[in-house]
Amino acid sequence: VSDPEHVSTSRAVYDATADAYARAVGTELTDAIEGPIDRAFLAAFVEMSGATAAGPVADVGCGPGRVAAFLASRGLDAVGVDVSPAMVAIARTAHPRIRFEEGQLTALPFPDESLAGIVSWYSIIHTPPKHLDEVFAEMRRVLVRDGNLLVGFQAGDGERVHRADAYGSGLPLTSYRHSPASIVTRLAEAGMTVRAQATREAELDHESTQQAFLLARPTPALA
Ligand SMILES: C[S@@+](CC[C@H](N)C(=O)[O-])C[C@H]1O[C@@H](n2cnc3c(N)ncnc32)[C@H](O)[C@@H]1O
Repeated sequence: VSDPEHVSTSRAVYDATADAYARAVGTELTDAIEGPIDRAFLAAFVEMSGATAAGPVADVGCGPGRVAAFLASRGLDAVGVDVSPAMVAIARTAHPRIRFEEGQLTALPFPDESLAGIVSWYSIIHTPPKHLDEVFAEMRRVLVRDGNLLVGFQAGDGERVHRADAYGSGLPLTSYRHSPASIVTRLAEAGMTVRAQATREAELDHESTQQAFLLARPTPALA
């Protein structure tokens, strides 16, 4: 079965631009790329995940492994997954003590209910809204029952932003500004409950739209 077009396009663009992307944003989280509210959500995720006994935490759509490195630096057992082999190679070189694997948001390389947490940091932005249900179902599959999910993305009303020359690659790439309310609904449909969310205004040099952050957990089964 071949990959959906949005997946093969993301892989091609990020493979072609992995070096430039890593030079632009770095291989660690920085105050230039993440604002105080963003960092607060990441810190809350660390604290909540530390309270969950079992399993690693995964940075899915990890790019150069910035979030995985942050999670590992806070004592969590972090792993990273990305669809782009070039990104995985950069992440491995930058963070040799962390495990990085190739994989897709809809086919995460983990057994059922094996992860204490997942961070999707700007990695659902190339997934069309109609494909998000598969992504969240897969995240729910791999999370333990008291696991935590943190999702960050550029917010909007679900509009599509098409770039003909993504990151100077000469390749086209489409991003989606998902609506936070629609993400809450889709997470609920996938069996996850949002426990905290924030939408903040654009405030950093590289931003042109609102940014959204949601923390969710598997919804407890009815007794
Ligand atoms: C904007 S970058 C963010 C990278 C990283 N999370 C960060 O904050 O630096 C988006 C990343 O998501 C990955 N990605 C996009 N769609 C994906 C998919 N369907 N499955 C896995 N990774 C995906 C891309 O390869 C790319 O590395």
